[in-house]
Amino acid sequence: MSDLTKEINKRRTFAIISHPDAGKTTLTEKFLLYGGQINLAGSVKGKATARHAVSDWMDIEKERGISVTSSVLQFEYENCCINILDTPGHQDFSEDTYRTLMAADSAVMVIDAAKGVEPQTRKLFKVCGRRGIPIFTFINKMDRDARDSFELVDEIEKELGIAVCPVNWPIGSGKAFKGVYDRRSKEIVAFSDTEKGTKEGRERHIALDDEKASTDYIGEDARELLLSEIELLDGASPEFDQAEVDHGQLSPVFFGSALTNFGVGMFLHDFLKMTSPPLPRLSEGNVVDPVKEGFSAFVFKIQANMNKAHRDRVAFMRICSGKFTAGMDVYHVQGGKNVRLMQPQQMMADDRHVVDEAYAGDIIGVFDPGIFSIGDTLCMPGRKLHFAGIPTFAPEHFARVRQVDTMKRKQFVKGIMQIAQEGAIQIFQEDNYGMEEVVVGVVGVLQFEVLQYRLKNEYSVEIILEKLPYEHIRWIKDRDTDLDRVTGTSDMKKLRDLKGRPLLLFVNQWSIGMTLDRNEGMELEEYSDN
Ligand code: G4P
Repeated sequence: MSDLTKEINKRRTFAIISHPDAGKTTLTEKFLLYGGQINLAGSVKGKATARHAVSDWMDIEKERGISVTSSVLQFEYENCCINILDTPGHQDFSEDTYRTLMAADSAVMVIDAAKGVEPQTRKLFKVCGRRGIPIFTFINKMDRDARDSFELVDEIEKELGIAVCPVNWPIGSGKAFKGVYDRRSKEIVAFSDTEKGTKEGRERHIALDDEKASTDYIGEDARELLLSEIELLDGASPEFDQAEVDHGQLSPVFFGSALTNFGVGMFLHDFLKMTSPPLPRLSEGNVVDPVKEGFSAFVFKIQANMNKAHRDRVAFMRICSGKFTAGMDVYHVQGGKNVRLMQPQQMMADDRHVVDEAYAGDIIGVFDPGIFSIGDTLCMPGRKLHFAGIPTFAPEHFARVRQVDTMKRKQFVKGIMQIAQEGAIQIFQEDNYGMEEVVVGVVGVLQFEVLQYRLKNEYSVEIILEKLPYEHIRWIKDRDTDLDRVTGTSDMKKLRDLKGRPLLLFVNQWSIGMTLDRNEGMELEEYSDN
């Protein structure tokens, strides 16, 4: 095996998704502990300080104590080179959160055992589901009173529409938490709180068949209950099937407690075996093999003004194939010319270091003199790859935006277009209005604040932002549809996006149904894939 193949095959690039407070940060911290990043792990913890340490780029983040941007953490464990894509954890997440999932090869979904599937998990899951990437479930906080385990796995199956296969099964929860039963080795792994200890702890394994030892440990009643639960599980839950996992149709489920570091090592070990190395990507229908093809990458995120003094922009790209070497010339497909990727860097919590080389699966940030857009492809000179664009995610919040000082129209348009180009907001227009007044759509409401803040700070433009009641956006499939002839409900709004595509905004689902009824043959789409 060539060195290149070896390097690429050891990459595991995944995103951790969860509803805020389910334990994503704590789990990430424990993962890092396994990679020997102990100092770092300490700094990831604790809301007030942690997220800052990880991505501390925008003042607004500092003020609010939340992470607007995402970052990437890289570490080595069990001969794998792991890239964790951190998704902003606050409720007010943005399109960036979704886009980050485009760069991942699999996702780890953290669920709070007392709460089950929560709204943000549902949304993020939907995006993973569309891509068909493997999804792994970690049911967390078993050291606290949890909901019934069958009820939890049922809920995941029903609400998210994915089959689940418990790899282990909890024995009690909260004060009565005794550990987990490993369905493959048929052993009980005894609960131990390793929070204060070292990473591995003293994991004690007891064969369930050893009646005396297992009864001594968990008690007769708990053993009886466990036996009947295992019988039920063996009869009712699907068998583990790697191919189904690979296609995102079956999610392996693990129970544990990130805080006490119980079940994290077991999870990481199994997960690294079950998840895939960098997946091939499609370029205009052709498969781009991560190993056989030379360097290629796509831009999934642009971060402006990371360093205020320099007004710089950094374009984050996911390397899809081959090897990147600092200073190399690559072909920027959308720009139609060769460019030299400047100041390549990798993020490591608060440390940004320059990289000399990186491989398929890795994420690098490069200095962007303003030439890149989200979704752009880069490849070796002489090649003309074109990765599918990053879909535009349906905004859920809308506001009418206009500038206070109409004399500053130029700056307003420049600023708002720039921010839209970075993908932080989407701009819509009414047929009869120009750019003086636009409707802005965002995925997370915090983006409105970011918009206001950035226009003021970077472009010296004050805006008036009037929130609108719409919650649903639908693009009209037939782009030539005459908007004037669309008859909908009175609370519907007709707009166009910057590419001129006609779309409708609705206050509720009911209006969508009514509008479809009233316009025979019209097809509506929830997303507009570029
Ligand atoms: P998030 O990134 O998904 O938002 O969650 P985070 O890890 O910050 O965890 C949210 C809270 O849940 C934290 O408590 C954390 O300590 C706690 N937690 C995480 N995993 C477990 C677990 O397995 N068991 C128990 N009992 N608690 C867990 P906090 O009090 O909000 O913050 P902190 O002061 O402890 O940092």
